[in-house]
Amino acid sequence: MDKKPLLEVRNLKKYFDKTRGLFAKEKKFLHAVDDISFDIYKGETFGLVGESGCGKSTTGRTIVKLYEPTDGQIIFDGVDLASVPEKEMLPYRRKIQMIFQDPYASLNARMTVTDIIAEGIVTHKLYKDHDNPEKAIQDRIYELLESVGLKKEHASRYPHEFSGGQRQRIGIARALAVNPDLIICDEPISALDVSIQAQVVNMLEDFQKEFGLTYLFIAHDLSMVKYISDRIGVMYLGKLMEVATSDELYETPLHPYTKALLSSIPLPDPEHEDKGKRIVLQGDVPSPINPKDRCRFATRCNYSKILVENDGSDFKQQIVGKYARETVIDHERHHAIVEENQYITEEIADMIIDFGVDKIYINRSKCFSEEPKLEEYKKDHFTACHFTKEIEEGTIK
Ligand SMILES: Nc1ncnc2c1ncn2[C@@H]1O[C@H](COP(=O)(O)OP(=O)(O)OP(=O)(O)O)[C@@H](O)[C@H]1O
Ligand code: SF4
Ligand SMILES: [Mg+2]
Repeated sequence: MDKKPLLEVRNLKKYFDKTRGLFAKEKKFLHAVDDISFDIYKGETFGLVGESGCGKSTTGRTIVKLYEPTDGQIIFDGVDLASVPEKEMLPYRRKIQMIFQDPYASLNARMTVTDIIAEGIVTHKLYKDHDNPEKAIQDRIYELLESVGLKKEHASRYPHEFSGGQRQRIGIARALAVNPDLIICDEPISALDVSIQAQVVNMLEDFQKEFGLTYLFIAHDLSMVKYISDRIGVMYLGKLMEVATSDELYETPLHPYTKALLSSIPLPDPEHEDKGKRIVLQGDVPSPINPKDRCRFATRCNYSKILVENDGSDFKQQIVGKYARETVIDHERHHAIVEENQYITEEIADMIIDFGVDKIYINRSKCFSEEPKLEEYKKDHFTACHFTKEIEEGTIK
């Protein structure tokens, strides 16, 4: 593969203003995409995964400037699209196409297949110098329909006459019609039957080879992107947590979130059956509105808590000035001595000790006070965690 980036996303941010009321004291911004950077090389498929609401679609939509970026650069083939004015965006709109998740909503119900596919061709004046543009466009539409496995006769029909899989084929034909360089596939197979999913993926792969296309392939679970992606980025609450080649991410994931995502994928291969325990994610997903300066994964990470045991020596010193990870209840008096995430003062520490607690989980301070940056831990393998080395070496558990 040619290792030249076609797309360089640099410190991209997209915030949505959620402030309610004219006289609101504090502005509320939803940080849908919060300072992410990654490259997509020419001819590769870059998979973007993460749970619902983590900002995958917003990333895709901001790259094509369906949303105006809040900050950052979107360097496409050497040009920063973030600073290209709207009226000069048309040529780039041709080069970057999108395929959407919902093949029902993304096709205009009142347009025929011909009109749907022709729209981009006409907008970008692709056959304007042709002797007979109308015929050239119709021929091109027939050719496209055939290449996505549909028939000439389908050209005059309306979207409701097709199945989900067929509609997604129409969406693909529409994207291909304008000879793009990059296609952003936003969960293109999630809404399809499992039997159809493989067909659509295979078709996308064939087109990639044939036309030298580059893909940003968005999905919410890792099993879907594994086979199609060369490299994968894992998102969590607007941030990129890990970026690595597909094989590396599956074989040696580094980030605790990626490990949790992978552990929930059933492994059909018996060789891998005992590879690891299933990690069940606990804890709340924090709000993406005005997020705090800390690791976004801290409230759910297994490594962001420290077990402190009372062995009679410095138990008190170890817990004073820290935040409790769990609530300690005085069952006799029916009240909490310390609540989850509460600061442990000397007085509270004394109460915990008097109460006879012999061990307590506290928050690991750095996870809750500093945001880890996405850094290259091994060659071409990036992760955003303060404690990658310690976790890998097994010195923290
Ligand atoms: N147009 C919008 N206006 C306001 N908030 C938005 C808008 N679009 C998305 N959001 C918010 O931004 C966050 C990221 O949403 P996004 O749709 O990008 O997530 P996603 O990862 O694509 O999720 P899914 O897997 O459900 O498609 C969510 O909290 C969402 O509510
Ligand atoms: S920085 Fe802390 S909370 Fe975040 S992933 Fe690493 S160990 Fe977990
Ligand atoms: Mg989405």
